[in-house]
Amino acid sequence: MTRTAIVTGGAGFIGSHVVDSLLADGYRVIAVDDLTTGRASNLNEGAELALVDITDVDALDEVFDSAKPERVFHLGAQSMVTVSVKDPARDCEVNVRGTLNVLEAAGRHDAPVVFTSTGGALYGDGVPLPTPETQIPAPLSPYGASKWAGESYVRTWALASGIPHAVCRLGNVYGPRQSPHGEAGVVSIFSRMLWEGQAPTLFGFGDATRDYVHVHDVVSCLRAASGNAGVFNVASSVETSVRDVFRILREEAGVDLDPVLAPLREGELTRSCMDPSNARRALGWKPSIPIQRGMRATYHELVSEFEAEVESCR
Ligand SMILES: NC(=O)c1ccc[n+]([C@@H]2O[C@H](COP(=O)([O-])OP(=O)(O)OC[C@H]3O[C@@H](n4cnc5c(N)ncnc54)[C@H](O)[C@@H]3O)[C@@H](O)[C@H]2O)c1
Repeated sequence: MTRTAIVTGGAGFIGSHVVDSLLADGYRVIAVDDLTTGRASNLNEGAELALVDITDVDALDEVFDSAKPERVFHLGAQSMVTVSVKDPARDCEVNVRGTLNVLEAAGRHDAPVVFTSTGGALYGDGVPLPTPETQIPAPLSPYGASKWAGESYVRTWALASGIPHAVCRLGNVYGPRQSPHGEAGVVSIFSRMLWEGQAPTLFGFGDATRDYVHVHDVVSCLRAASGNAGVFNVASSVETSVRDVFRILREEAGVDLDPVLAPLREGELTRSCMDPSNARRALGWKPSIPIQRGMRATYHELVSEFEAEVESCR
């Protein structure tokens, strides 16, 4: 019998890789996405696209009730800090109410949900590094707050229903298909600028650090978490400065450009690094792609995408 999985945000950067992995394992996959930031071209041809906004309960229920999913990966989200500051009501509507809608719809089919939350935006600044899941969240933005609220619903619904829903707090994810036009995603943004011969801006004067994790490692953790209740940091536990990311990518691009240095933007963290040992203990997961190798490979994969995009506009 065919197993069915629903991936909300399946046309987005990370969701499209989750879709690929499920299809490779023989699942029928339905991507629920309203294409606000996702692209239909990200989506594997073997998947079905349900063009639905997760805040539209009736439309969402219809997709779930006809698909009867065995597993749900909930990545569909308002995922930009700046947008959350400008429009906190919409951020709340999508990330909190939308998450509740997904939990309710999945619950009718006893399907465990994996919810993608955030590490950096949740833990805030000035916390012990690497930060464990036991750290009490102190979000700095509406986005961090809405993800934390979403997490609470996931945990409460898991307790009430007995369905093993999981929360995965992601570090800074990078890899192919990440948009260079977003507000974060420095690997993609820097790659695009270097490829165009422009100097990227290093906020925090290059000293700000993040915990970078390759999208293929993230997908393997989300897959391992499916059906396992708990809260898991999904990160490399390697603290890397934005200056080092720039250096790796500049070398790969083979250009001689100096970056522009600027102070941190409002609400941005100085340092971020997460402890993923709970995922290792409970799920047997650990990241397998070293940062230097992953970023170098990603540069070339992204450049192929940029070239294809330019070609398609001709
Ligand atoms: N990229 C990272 O480093 C990172 C870090 C921490 C957490 N996350 C989380 O991981 C998930 C995926 O992020 P991503 O980087 O792939 O971003 P993304 O923007 O590429 O993916 C989000 C997807 O959700 C869709 N979406 C947005 N609002 C929707 C709605 N109302 N209804 C249906 N679909 C909707 C978008 O069109 C998009 O395809 C998000 O939940 C994000 O908060 C990402």
